[in-house]
Amino acid sequence: MLEGFAKEASTFAADVDRAFWITIGINTAMLLLVVGLILFFILRYHHSRVQPKEIRNIKDHIPLEIAWTVIPTIILFVIFYYGYSAFRQLRTMPQDAFIVDVLGKRWSWTFTYPNGKRTAELYIPVGENIKLRLHAPENDVLHSFYVPAFRVKEDVVPGRVNHLWFKITEAGRYDVQCAEYCGTRHSYMLSKVEAMDKDAFDTWYASDKLSPHDESAPKGGEGEILYKTLGCASCHSLDGSIIVGPSFKGLFGSMVKVMTDGKPRELTANEAYIRDSVRTPAKDVVEGFPVGIMPNLSDQINEEQMNAIIAFIKTQSSEENNVVEQPAV
Ligand code: CUA
Repeated sequence: MLEGFAKEASTFAADVDRAFWITIGINTAMLLLVVGLILFFILRYHHSRVQPKEIRNIKDHIPLEIAWTVIPTIILFVIFYYGYSAFRQLRTMPQDAFIVDVLGKRWSWTFTYPNGKRTAELYIPVGENIKLRLHAPENDVLHSFYVPAFRVKEDVVPGRVNHLWFKITEAGRYDVQCAEYCGTRHSYMLSKVEAMDKDAFDTWYASDKLSPHDESAPKGGEGEILYKTLGCASCHSLDGSIIVGPSFKGLFGSMVKVMTDGKPRELTANEAYIRDSVRTPAKDVVEGFPVGIMPNLSDQINEEQMNAIIAFIKTQSSEENNVVEQPAV
């Protein structure tokens, strides 16, 4: 509608915007009316223009009282009508919907589809009802799943499941943001939702590619898929740079300085070390990194997935690069 407003990409976006503009329009008219009357009274009834004998008290004025009761009531009902009719569409979940599970955690989004496929960006077909099942791990914090172009936003709360639905009218890539402050990487807790034509979606959905834009399936196998979709990638780089935690480049087999119960010691980054880092991250805190920044992922990774991740981390180590880079403290 206005330049700078995200495009209206869902079936109910226009109704949400209508409710918004009606409220803004009424508020603006009210503001101008009140400020205008204040200015008028200041000028018209300035003491230099009013004789004391002109001043009189008004006891009551029935028509005026009825007017200022009835008119605001009507205005409130107009705002309520447009707001509620848009809200009701957002909150009435369709019976036949393609359901995608959305895990929001510090600091990534994971989308799991009915066939078990898992991605870090959401891919959906245009013109179909999509229902999201939003949740966060028990030991995580509040997040909020927000797609401005769809006019949908819903809190993602540890320990409960929230729902959201939409039907997209136009193919395209749209921004996903976390709209609830959730710590260090809140502003990087971004993703995309891509609405695709049904045929293109079906082809991708049946394939083993992570995204429709990939040439082929990930070479690193299940471990690479987990790295990219379970949130490892949002904190651990593969190129030696420090995002939040140590880079996976050269990590395996290197010596890592940790604090265990307040005492410094050195550990070899072997399989047991990686396993402990995922299952009991609070035990050995890597020197130079904030305490408690690595979430406990015990509930999110089974043994098979653990092995796949270890295998993937192993592939990121080579002879010439065998040092864990530490951030400047
Ligand atoms: Cu998650 Cu902010």
